[in-house]
Amino acid sequence: MKMYTVSQLLSKNQFGEDVEIKGWVRTFRANRFIALNDGSTINNIQCVVDFENTDEVILKRITTGAAIHIKGELIESQGKGQSVEIAVAHLDILGDSDPETFPIQPKKHSFEFLRENAHLRTRTSTFSAVMRLRSTLSFAIHKYFNDNGFYYMHTPIITGSDAEGAGEMFRVSSLDAKNPPLNDEGKVDYKQDFFGKETNLTVSGQLEAETYAMSLGKVYTFGPTFRAENSNTSRHLSEFWMIEPEVAFMDLAGNMDLAEDFMKYVLKYVLDHNREDLEFLEKRLLDEEKTKPQAERSEMSLIEKLNFVIDNNFKRVSYTEAIDILRNSKPNKKKKFNYIIEDWGADLQSEHERFLVEKHFKCPVILFDYPANIKAFYMRLNEDGKTVRAMDILFPGIGEMVGGSQREERLDVLKEKMKALDIPEEELWWYLDLRKYGTAVHSGFGLGFERLVMFATGMTNIRDVIPYPRTPQNAEF
Ligand code: 4AD
Ligand code: MG
Repeated sequence: MKMYTVSQLLSKNQFGEDVEIKGWVRTFRANRFIALNDGSTINNIQCVVDFENTDEVILKRITTGAAIHIKGELIESQGKGQSVEIAVAHLDILGDSDPETFPIQPKKHSFEFLRENAHLRTRTSTFSAVMRLRSTLSFAIHKYFNDNGFYYMHTPIITGSDAEGAGEMFRVSSLDAKNPPLNDEGKVDYKQDFFGKETNLTVSGQLEAETYAMSLGKVYTFGPTFRAENSNTSRHLSEFWMIEPEVAFMDLAGNMDLAEDFMKYVLKYVLDHNREDLEFLEKRLLDEEKTKPQAERSEMSLIEKLNFVIDNNFKRVSYTEAIDILRNSKPNKKKKFNYIIEDWGADLQSEHERFLVEKHFKCPVILFDYPANIKAFYMRLNEDGKTVRAMDILFPGIGEMVGGSQREERLDVLKEKMKALDIPEEELWWYLDLRKYGTAVHSGFGLGFERLVMFATGMTNIRDVIPYPRTPQNAEF
């Protein structure tokens, strides 16, 4: 007898074979029908128990959440919506699940409740679909870069520099936090710390990726990054995964082309490989939409949105053009957008970004050439002396998905910028070396993986697309 997965059995069209399967009970109806799932697909397989010839003690132990082992014959299903089922010949309970206390009951649970049970939430259809999609997306990302001549680089998690210069780092220290050693000036003596200096968890692998791009040509990192920003929003995590390609001899226009091509590829990949999960999530969203007033309902379904992004060009707009659009659009309080924008030079707020993407262009937008003073120190200064070759890619329903730039490759200009921002040269001597020895135009970007998973799944809270979310005041699991 052969062991199968649910996915394998559901795609069979020949009957009569004796098969074996292991999984978890989703529901058990009428002392007869087990809906069994093993994670291999969104769908359950129906296993029909011959209850008259089954021990009553065993029947009682077939409860939601229990792990079971079934042997039986694969037969054509009489039921609707399924082609095959198993006529159970033998059933073993591998692990009981007390129906009185098992939190995941066969009913709709709120996402808040499921977050408190993050260790069990993938026993639900929604979360198993989301996490399968997350896995497929990760694979597609590696595949895209591998197919396009990029090398995968592992950038360090513990670093001595602040790549973004935003001061949002988690300190890594072996010193006694309550009683740290002090130096002659009465300050914490980091020379006595584990690494002999102050260190943090990385906020981005970009600077290290730049060093490798300047020898291997095309590289990318895909790893966890950490930000101690106190943003309790549905789009921010303290620990998130970032994809960061970096390419030598590529300018900002090439960077835009790469980002757009890459995103279209990975979204197409999940459409082609996780259709059933997407269809399930789409249906869930459509049901949710029905509870909303007509005016607030989404114009497109999940799969339509994905296809739309794949089939249409991203709109490329300079910051200055965007400011003009915002200035010329009337505030509309009813729709909750507040477009009143300050002078040229101000950073765009999320409501401005949402207006541009969701109301004005109605498609992904690449904003570029931002004012230098609202962007990071390493971005290439334009000839106008006031804007930098930065790009942000904004997505409907998500906001900022990608942040990237052409990097400042001129040693003197970079040094001047660091001086103006009080970034000590000693800290980034190795970064400056790249500009001393064989410097060249190069560019890259960072894509927040969880925001991509949100877009691909239609989930609206970033805490629901990562197995164990880290947010302020929350690291339960
Ligand atoms: O715009 P950011 O800060 O850019 C960088 O870190 C650059 N070093 C990237 C590069 O050029 N190599 O972050 C990049 C992206 C954002 O666009 C957003 O999608 C995501 O990372 N991101 C977050 N995602 C979840 N939670 C947070 N707290 C995030 N902060 C940024
Ligand atoms: Mg950014």
